[in-house]
Amino acid sequence: MANEQSLRTATFPSGIASVGLGKVERQVPVGEPPPLAPNSELAVIGKSAPRQDGRAKVTGAARFTADVFLPGMLYARVLRSPLPHARVRSIDISAASRHPGVRAIVPIASPDDPHRATLRYVGEPVVAVAAASMAAAEEALRLVRVDYQSLPFVVELDYARAQSAPPVYVSTEEAPGGHPSGWPAATNLPLNGNVRGPAISRRGDVTQGFKDATIVVEGEYRTQVQTHCCLEPHGIVADWRADGLTVYMSTQYTTGVRHELAEEFGLPLNRVRVVVEAMGGGFGSKSALGNYGRIAVELSRRAQAPVRLVLDRQEEQMDSGNRPGTWQRLRIGAKRDGTLTAISLLSYGTAGIALGAGVGFNAEALYACPNFDGAQHDVFIDAGPGCAMRAPGNTPGAFGLEQAIDELAERLDIDPLTLRDRIDPSPVRREERRIGAERVGWQRRHKPGADAGPIKRGLGVAQSLWMANVQLDSSCEVRLMRDGSVEVLSSVQDIGTGTGTVMAQTVAEVFGLRAENITVRIGDTEFPPGPPSYGSRATASITPPARTAAWHVLQLLLREVALALNAAPEDLIARDGRILIRDDPSRGMPFADAAARLRTDRISAVASRSDDYAGFLRRMGDAALAHQALGGVQFAEVAVDTETGIVRVERVVAVQDCGRPMNPRQIESQVHGGILMGLSYALFEERILDQHTGRMVNPDLEHYKLAGPRETPAIDLVILENYQGNSATDAYGIAEPANIATAPAIANAVYNAIGVRLRSLPMTPAAILGALGKIPQRS
Ligand code: MOS
Repeated sequence: MANEQSLRTATFPSGIASVGLGKVERQVPVGEPPPLAPNSELAVIGKSAPRQDGRAKVTGAARFTADVFLPGMLYARVLRSPLPHARVRSIDISAASRHPGVRAIVPIASPDDPHRATLRYVGEPVVAVAAASMAAAEEALRLVRVDYQSLPFVVELDYARAQSAPPVYVSTEEAPGGHPSGWPAATNLPLNGNVRGPAISRRGDVTQGFKDATIVVEGEYRTQVQTHCCLEPHGIVADWRADGLTVYMSTQYTTGVRHELAEEFGLPLNRVRVVVEAMGGGFGSKSALGNYGRIAVELSRRAQAPVRLVLDRQEEQMDSGNRPGTWQRLRIGAKRDGTLTAISLLSYGTAGIALGAGVGFNAEALYACPNFDGAQHDVFIDAGPGCAMRAPGNTPGAFGLEQAIDELAERLDIDPLTLRDRIDPSPVRREERRIGAERVGWQRRHKPGADAGPIKRGLGVAQSLWMANVQLDSSCEVRLMRDGSVEVLSSVQDIGTGTGTVMAQTVAEVFGLRAENITVRIGDTEFPPGPPSYGSRATASITPPARTAAWHVLQLLLREVALALNAAPEDLIARDGRILIRDDPSRGMPFADAAARLRTDRISAVASRSDDYAGFLRRMGDAALAHQALGGVQFAEVAVDTETGIVRVERVVAVQDCGRPMNPRQIESQVHGGILMGLSYALFEERILDQHTGRMVNPDLEHYKLAGPRETPAIDLVILENYQGNSATDAYGIAEPANIATAPAIANAVYNAIGVRLRSLPMTPAAILGALGKIPQRS
């Protein structure tokens, strides 16, 4: 704990580089490296470095979980419920068990166990089998006989809210008590029919606030269920042996999965190892062990052989998580000059049979408003469990809030950027709006629906708020070998974002080496425990201990060579591949020569993430936290064809902040991904459930439409350098912030183009034509 350690005062660069840097003093635990200079003075950090695993990925050499083949490995398949709500009367696995290829078979549902007798969504696991081949596994599942008693079901949010709707859970005891991914959700709240909640959040007096308002805008917004569509499916190879369990798994959190496995299977932590090499995305859906992970381990335990379970695309779509659908009602009161007097938010969302369908905290925290009242509800339906997905809550929430703010600006006849300058206390977003407006040519923006022809263009803006998350339980080891080669080790995984490359840059900067000189060993719980890759926290959590560990190793090295250079260790620096005397850089020696003087073949240091120097833990729960969080402003330029209803997003200008930017090329890659995911959410993606069968009618990537190259806009990114003096690197994440503002920016641009506001996602051609009164509106 920081406040139990001895502290020293240190001075850090502070502020936004494009505005001008100042200094800030922090109390820093002894043992942390000296403050890091701004990026302009650094050699490796803040410069674009190519992804260390890039070549392996594009040549197919990278090893994903589905590429893991172990001797004697078995293949698992899962029989899944064909019905959205059913009681299992009986399961007969006798014929399947006699199949010659079968090595283990596990009923997951059970007629005899009240907790396992009811199935609640199409695709829910019923029986799992491990066999010598995929074909044998599938044949065996066809021999399983299940007698289902079909029960009334509900797969639609509005209907599920009605008192007359069939209950998904018949009692509070049955309903889930927490969110499977660990994402904070309405737990231990009353259950009324299918409605759980509300989760209440309040400040001030909204009744008085609305009385004080000159103008009140009110709107209802709807967002659809989006599925994660990770390029790499969920997969695991579980290898249960007498001396311990090893799992190879596509996971966002090796350390977390290790804990889950130890607890669920009664193993000590030192007998559980979790390994992941390359990954093709997770977006929140690979945060935990999951039902498929549990199944593979149990099959391996019973078969006494390695078992591989990789989900197919249909299983991905039905049972690997999704972004909950929402209904939101927002009321915002303001004075004539735009000053907000009250915000109220009512939401009902559905994460299927799970919790976690809140719409986040934009409405509560993005703008200065003394009076707020939020009531958020989870509604159960008979559909696969939702889970965290890229900026969970805030992405659907921003779709409502940022349109409401746009509407308020229009009603007040104030430019949307001017209004935000008045009500948004963040100096970071203020600068982002200024830069973005200039880039996109905001002054060209016309009145809504002003273009004469059938193709109407529009400009829109929206902004985002996300937490500057940090995992304090994050460690890293740095090793220096006698030949001058360097390794950095942590269990942290690289889910495709470039975490390993950023760690290499961080360590290289300390030693005066280049990122490609550093060997990164990650994604294995044999190494010091690293953070999860969720909540945009990996970079913020692991780069400070990486720098700290490297800095300690450097101090050991400098002590070894000081005598040879006839200097004090504190007068030596590492730069350009050499150890130099600070005040006389002509004197020094190559880094490798210095390493050759080590008395042991290898030296190393382990460091852990200290608390943010400004006190992250102390800020938690403080409303001021929101204004020290991560921002981002996006502008969209669209062309709407009012004859076909097709929306083309021509350009997105994004101005984003993530503390100290570590690797601009990788940040750009993250922001492109965030914008494409947001555009795809805005215009195309939607899980469609058949109300008569409960089945997903588009459980693939053909009828579940994702944005493709033809729909990809020009993306123009400006990265703000925003120093806060918070850690040894002062870096934060970017993955989630980049996804929040896109859909509302597009929606506001569509409004500016056609003069009609769409309050429901996705904005398909039919929805556009319906809004224009050219075809009947979808109900
Ligand atoms: Mo993210 S939804 O925290 O992977």
